[in-house]
Amino acid sequence: MCGIIGYVGDRSAAEILISGLSHLEYRGYDSSGVALMNDKEVNIYKAPGKLINLIEILKTKQNICAKSKIGIGHIRWATHGLPTTQNAHPHTCNCKNLTLVHNGIIENYQELKKELEQLGARFSSQTDTEVAAHLIAYEYGKTKNLLKAMLNATKKIKGAFAFCAIHKNEPDKIVVAKRNAPLIIGIGQEENFIASDIPAIIEYTKKAIYLSDYQVGVIKKDSIEIYNDNGTLVPNKIEYLPFEAVAISKMGYKHFMLKEIHEQGDVVRNILAGKLLSPEKNVVLDEFKLTKKEINNIKRIQIIACGTSYHAGLVGKYILEKFAKIPVDVEASSEYIYRDTIADKNTLAIGISQSGETADTITAIKQIKEQESHVAIITNRVDSTLARLSDSLLPVNAGIEVSVAATKSYIAQLISLYLLTIYLFEQKGLEQYKEEIRTLKQELMELPSKIEAIVENTTNIQEIAKKYSCYKDFIFIARGINYPNALEGALKLKEISYINATGYSAGELKHGPIAMLDNNMPVLALLNTGVVYDKVLSNCEEAKARQAKLIAVTNYIEPKDVPLFDDIINVPLGSETIGPAINIVVLQLLAYYIAEYLGKDVDQPRNLAKSVTVE
Ligand code: AGP
Repeated sequence: MCGIIGYVGDRSAAEILISGLSHLEYRGYDSSGVALMNDKEVNIYKAPGKLINLIEILKTKQNICAKSKIGIGHIRWATHGLPTTQNAHPHTCNCKNLTLVHNGIIENYQELKKELEQLGARFSSQTDTEVAAHLIAYEYGKTKNLLKAMLNATKKIKGAFAFCAIHKNEPDKIVVAKRNAPLIIGIGQEENFIASDIPAIIEYTKKAIYLSDYQVGVIKKDSIEIYNDNGTLVPNKIEYLPFEAVAISKMGYKHFMLKEIHEQGDVVRNILAGKLLSPEKNVVLDEFKLTKKEINNIKRIQIIACGTSYHAGLVGKYILEKFAKIPVDVEASSEYIYRDTIADKNTLAIGISQSGETADTITAIKQIKEQESHVAIITNRVDSTLARLSDSLLPVNAGIEVSVAATKSYIAQLISLYLLTIYLFEQKGLEQYKEEIRTLKQELMELPSKIEAIVENTTNIQEIAKKYSCYKDFIFIARGINYPNALEGALKLKEISYINATGYSAGELKHGPIAMLDNNMPVLALLNTGVVYDKVLSNCEEAKARQAKLIAVTNYIEPKDVPLFDDIINVPLGSETIGPAINIVVLQLLAYYIAEYLGKDVDQPRNLAKSVTVE
């Protein structure tokens, strides 16, 4: 959610921190701050709003920036308190010697605050982080050692955190700690880096240590020491970071979102490579670790995810039930975690998450793991917490997704689910729909060129976007396997344009939502060939009868039905099963162009964060 960066070395810390924060800005962006330390002092600069506001302040502090070779920085997504300068990180204590940045939520901050107030702590923000700063400072007062202070303080803290702390009396080091929030330590030559996510440091190093929960690290320019929670030194486990720096540039596109929509053809090619070689050959899915016998024992599947990943899971339900013949429940992680759930060793749990760091999904997966279910994780981040919790790790390899609105990761998740479905079908030796499975494989191989045909000719979509950008409300309808895309299309539109868009199953329209329809309410229908074509069409007739403006996104429309619609966007022909992977591209582009036409901040919509690391 928030982003953390730290640097210790011989370069200007300010430059590294700002560059790192700019690559983390997609995670949260309501305020930012840095603490710059040199032998004599620690200077803290903070600004509300976008990072540019902090950059402007630092331009006036050239001297301090030049002489500070150690520092910590933070970009915030507010959880406690408004996005003001006061609430921005870094936070400090009464004597200002200890400075802290934090990602996560401290659940017992109110109790701790009361205790610290009784001990004389004075607070100037509404944040939970400031409580942690005072607590570490209090422990420092007892031990005069930042490592020990961090070890002692973190034992008293409940909740999730990644901390980076510096102390004026120990000007050669940064001390870090984490629990249920990601933190990596990048290893350089006579310099080291700390970040909550790889893009912040990938241009400087590819070698890193992933700090584990309950560990505390002491980072100097020429050494990294990791301790477990009882203060014992543990060996450093060095790993190689998976991303190329080029992946985080816009490559000439106006927005990351547009670039990422355009990348989707290649994303599909990447994920299919080595797994689907021809329609005649079985899918190869070595990452899926269950044996044939265990697959045959699967009695149910539980898919757990949030937001866009949840919508991918809903598509998964349609195909897994139809082809693999296994009952599937799909549940939003946040709903899964606070009830008595039923799962066992014959349950296959599938967690879907672009970031692999979504707190609700992590909690739900931990809960399901306790019930001995096999856990498969579909994620774009093989280095993530969820990946590490998996029994079967199914990477989608979509490349880093910077735009807060998920696009290419959704397509990649769909492809992963198609592959898994076909794999289960083939491993179970099922017969029903054998021909459809062959067709599906053929269509998956043809999908990249269909996606490219859409993204290469967007004139019609842009015109329609302009025409409908003045509306305040939108309804998306579909049935069957395309229904989740109605939800996803509406989510895309609302999150980047702030238009009130809702997805409904077309059949549900008459059970309530129809009351809202008039000529101020455009209805977008996903009208595809297949068993529900006529049904969706009838629902469109019902909407038209209430004077709603009607848009069809369709891969085939009978000539007699054309006049019903105010506007039509054609997509390449495909079977009902592959439909969601094709028509979603239009919905992404439509949302993009509406938001762009309205002048919205497409890549960083208000109030959102790329990875939601708090429950
Ligand atoms: C998608 O556009 C959203 N920004 C959001 O719904 C996202 O899909 C959700 O927060 C889940 O994230 P995850 O896939 O990283 O777990």
